[in-house]
Amino acid sequence: MKGIILAGGNGTRLLPLTKITSKQLLPVYDKPMVFYPLETLLNAGIKDILFIVAPSHAGDFLKLLGSGKQFGAKFTYEIQDKPEGLAQAFIIGAEFIADDNVTMILGDNIFEDDFSKTIMNFKSGGHVFAKEVPDPERFGVVKFDADMNAVQIEEKPKTHLSNYAVTGLYIYDNRVVEAARQAQPSERGELEITELHNWYLKKGELKVDIVKGEWIDAGTFDTLLRASNLMAEKAKKIQ
Ligand code: G1P
Repeated sequence: MKGIILAGGNGTRLLPLTKITSKQLLPVYDKPMVFYPLETLLNAGIKDILFIVAPSHAGDFLKLLGSGKQFGAKFTYEIQDKPEGLAQAFIIGAEFIADDNVTMILGDNIFEDDFSKTIMNFKSGGHVFAKEVPDPERFGVVKFDADMNAVQIEEKPKTHLSNYAVTGLYIYDNRVVEAARQAQPSERGELEITELHNWYLKKGELKVDIVKGEWIDAGTFDTLLRASNLMAEKAKKIQ
């Protein structure tokens, strides 16, 4: 199993904070944001990790994270020249993925749950994770049937589909590279990760689990503050 941490984009919703650094390097309590998704992958035993970063602050990632030796892992870096979508990560990372399966996590997504068993036991298909949220229209949204099987997934639906957001952790088998190469840009000009979920859903090979603990997409001022507060509380509990 290979790992990808996608830390591209311009973080425009966090300006002026992101004028001089990248969103994923901003502090969340006592650590740079990207440490949290990195820990999610490391805890699952993933040791071969590709960071996909935007060109503007690429050097800062290298300075912070280095070779990976310090984390007992091996880090590789690629540049995403423009924010052309999450699914593009699998095209940029095709050589890195080679013949393996891959877990991708977004560099601004913070999870409390431990996904190690799920990741270690993964065999094939696609496996994504949903969480009930008050503002589903900000995300990819999944609709379930009465037995909690996923029946429909849409990116930022205009009409209400369900309250379940698809979070930024994705486990796919090697065919995801092929699926990403087949994807067409959406109205916002991006290769949407939702297209890849649907590629697997249509084949009946997509599993959607519910996230039990907290999940924060820390890409706005409010959620960034919430992430810092959550981590501060957890640190105090441990003391
Ligand atoms: C992206 C994905 C969306 C997902 C979200 C999770 O949205 O496109 O499906 O629910 O991440 O954080 P974006 O941050 O690109 O708006």
